[in-house]
Amino acid sequence: MEIVLNWKMEKSHLEEILWCKENKEELIKLSTNNHFFILCPSFTSLQTIKEIFDKSEIEIGAQNCSQYLLGSHTGQVSAKSLKEIGCLYCIIGHSETRTELNENYYQIAKKTKALISQHINPIICIGETREEKDKNLTLDALAQQLEPIVQEIINLNVKEIIFAYEPVWAIGSGNTPLASEIYEITKWVKMYLKVTLPEVKTKVLYGGSISSRNIDELKNIFDLDGFLIGKASLDIQEIKKIVTSKGK
Ligand code: PGA
Repeated sequence: MEIVLNWKMEKSHLEEILWCKENKEELIKLSTNNHFFILCPSFTSLQTIKEIFDKSEIEIGAQNCSQYLLGSHTGQVSAKSLKEIGCLYCIIGHSETRTELNENYYQIAKKTKALISQHINPIICIGETREEKDKNLTLDALAQQLEPIVQEIINLNVKEIIFAYEPVWAIGSGNTPLASEIYEITKWVKMYLKVTLPEVKTKVLYGGSISSRNIDELKNIFDLDGFLIGKASLDIQEIKKIVTSKGK
């Protein structure tokens, strides 16, 4: 299964490098155990961390990219640059990015296309807000998020695409949906994409407050392809417990 370690902006560049040097051996050891790590540090650390994990199974991913391929876009980072430094994955549409950078799913769809053009795997975050959940609008919200993405890539020759179901209310809150709810939503997302993009293999990860306390429950969810982990991914002991959990 895919284990995405989303470091957000929790550490500085030097702190990220130090963490990798200190925990390199342990992380490589854990990655052999049927778990495939995608480590997503800040932009500034990507290249150095790629070098640190050279010749290992651990891949690096960015936390965002520009919707444009090139040009006058001050402050942005292109998918092409990410590709050139060996980045094979990129998280897009994270709720923190959507909120703080005022981003919508039409832009996220364009980012998806930009990444695919550079043969980078997008990890596309989708998820409902607390309010949408309370009003029973989770699936409507997800359909609205997925639709522009489907429209943008329907005619591209995409083989595989990764989605991360991340309920906005679960991120950083200590709360998670029930395992049965995650199962139903994963099933629904896969079905939606099977109908709209029948040629594309879809993986669905879950993200939001994953830790050693709830991993046993989450590991049992049928057909879930992995996890996107925020806070717990900064602690090698937590990563170890998450990876070694056998489920309930
Ligand atoms: P969390 O973050 O695990 O700290 O809730 C998940 C995420 O934001 O991707």
